[in-house]
Amino acid sequence: MEINKSNLLRVANAIQRKNFFLKNIKKLVFWAEAESYCENYDDDFLDIEQEIPKELSPLEKYFENHLEGPGIWKWLHYFDIYHRHFKKFIGQEVNILEVGIYSGGSLGMWKEYFGPRCHIYGIDIEPACKCYEDNQTTVLIGDQEDRNFWKKAKNAIPPVDIIIDDGGHMPNQQKVTLEETLPHIKPGGVYICEDIHGDDNSFSAYATGYVRHLNKFDLERFTKFQRSIHSMHFYPFITVIEKHGTRPDKFVSSKRGTLWQPFFKEGA
Ligand SMILES: C[S@@+](CC[C@H](N)C(=O)[O-])C[C@H]1O[C@@H](n2cnc3c(N)ncnc32)[C@H](O)[C@@H]1O
Repeated sequence: MEINKSNLLRVANAIQRKNFFLKNIKKLVFWAEAESYCENYDDDFLDIEQEIPKELSPLEKYFENHLEGPGIWKWLHYFDIYHRHFKKFIGQEVNILEVGIYSGGSLGMWKEYFGPRCHIYGIDIEPACKCYEDNQTTVLIGDQEDRNFWKKAKNAIPPVDIIIDDGGHMPNQQKVTLEETLPHIKPGGVYICEDIHGDDNSFSAYATGYVRHLNKFDLERFTKFQRSIHSMHFYPFITVIEKHGTRPDKFVSSKRGTLWQPFFKEGA
């Protein structure tokens, strides 16, 4: 976040309104304990040779066979994650927005994976990337950290099903991009932010703030965010947000069956 007067005022107001430090000081202890648990973690299975065999996802196969032509640059473990969250869109009429085009190879990979009915919207700060436009690909040139750019981009791009942020990877770029685009993803859509590197990464801290909100437990005031956002998924360097396909009006804790143990008294 840029340190200027209006940002400092925003933060100061939030802290005052929520009594933020007092409410969260105990959570810092949990946070530190989690860090220490992970640092000292050991596992019964780490030294055992046998592992569950892994089948290459279609995207990884594409990547491994893509030996010539426009360059693609991805961490290898992303391919399984993409396939897990994207496979429901294969063959569908689907709009995809990727921030960060570089040498254009990922645009070709998405077209091959999703099929002829997909349209890709690529965004990059470098005007040279305009050359990757074709009948299935629209390229917009601009800075993902610039909210005015997003105003124009959102007028030019229809609602999208998938957003992949593989742009500049600076926390504030990632934050602005997420804030500006998340409300415009269609129900059932998926947001992916890539290359969140480092255990003290500010975007990572920002995203876990969303998790806190998802867990809000005020059944009288089910928030718009909870109605819209289905889930968040954290992997090394990559965070995925999925939207509800069918929006819930409330969370329902429900029971079936007639035989119950007597030791738990509801409301006691
Ligand atoms: C890691 S590369 C993208 C790789 C590509 N998606 C791939 O899979 O091969 C990052 C790209 O983000 C672009 N970029 C960097 N800062 C940006 C910004 N502020 N706004 C938009 N694009 C940016 C760079 O010009 C570069 O082309």
